[in-house]
Amino acid sequence: MTSLLDMKNLNKHFDGVRALDGFSCVLDEGEILGVIGPNGAGKTTLFNVLTGFIPPDNGRVLLQGNDLTRLPAHKRAQLGIARTFQNLRLIRRLSVLENVLLFFKDQPGERLSNLFLRRGMCRAQETQNREKALSLLQQIGLERKAHDPADALSYGQQKLLSIVCCLAADARVLLLDEPVAGIAPEMIEKILGVIQDLPKQGKSVMLIEHNLDAVMQVCHRVIFMDAGAKVSEGTPQEVRDDPRVIEAYID
Ligand SMILES: Nc1ncnc2c1ncn2[C@@H]1O[C@H](COP(=O)(O)OP(=O)(O)OP(=O)(O)O)[C@@H](O)[C@H]1O
Ligand SMILES: [Mg+2]
Repeated sequence: MTSLLDMKNLNKHFDGVRALDGFSCVLDEGEILGVIGPNGAGKTTLFNVLTGFIPPDNGRVLLQGNDLTRLPAHKRAQLGIARTFQNLRLIRRLSVLENVLLFFKDQPGERLSNLFLRRGMCRAQETQNREKALSLLQQIGLERKAHDPADALSYGQQKLLSIVCCLAADARVLLLDEPVAGIAPEMIEKILGVIQDLPKQGKSVMLIEHNLDAVMQVCHRVIFMDAGAKVSEGTPQEVRDDPRVIEAYID
């Protein structure tokens, strides 16, 4: 496997809180990498730094050897890094389909000149995006909900929809922040099935989850982090059996 995303010695402090403290790791191509750790360990901060939502104090992020550390969030999105949020950020009053359409990169209608000069081309592209979006929704069984407002979906369906949005953005790195937290068991299985299929579509995944069973089921490799640092790393089994991990997960 080739290394896709390289995180080198990342530090991020907030008023004395070490959210990331010399954190380093690699995401390989086609891998599903689990990131576990207690509340406040720095997991979401890691995603914020990877996506360019917040700058690290120091350290570097490389995508296939290219340094992204100083690139703004939208450039990283263009390069294929997409995320979902712990507290979903769908636009609840827009339809399910409209939410997906917002994530397509090719939106010629966005450019004013295109809108006036090349209406036909815009329409063709928009029709193509619509078809692609409907086909993505069909793949995950949400096509019948396409025209419902996003907030009419169940919480689990909204989590699925946010994964579809990453696919619409044509991401090759998907950063999923607690994709199965707070969801009914049958929906958890469905979402895990979708995640498990992502590498077959050429996608690489980092997955933050507190649900260890889910992590064990889908992750190829797991990192346990605490106080902003990597404490343990290995196969799901190895990490689960690490006494430091066992201690952290026993109240
Ligand atoms: N924007 C911010 N400003 C100040 N402190 C922050 C900020 N973002 C995160 N923190 C702090 O950094 C630490 C790590 O937070 P983070 O959200 O990354 O943890 P987490 O591992 O995702 O936790 P959880 O499992 O609860 O989601 C926490 O102490 C948090 O309060
Ligand atoms: Mg978090």
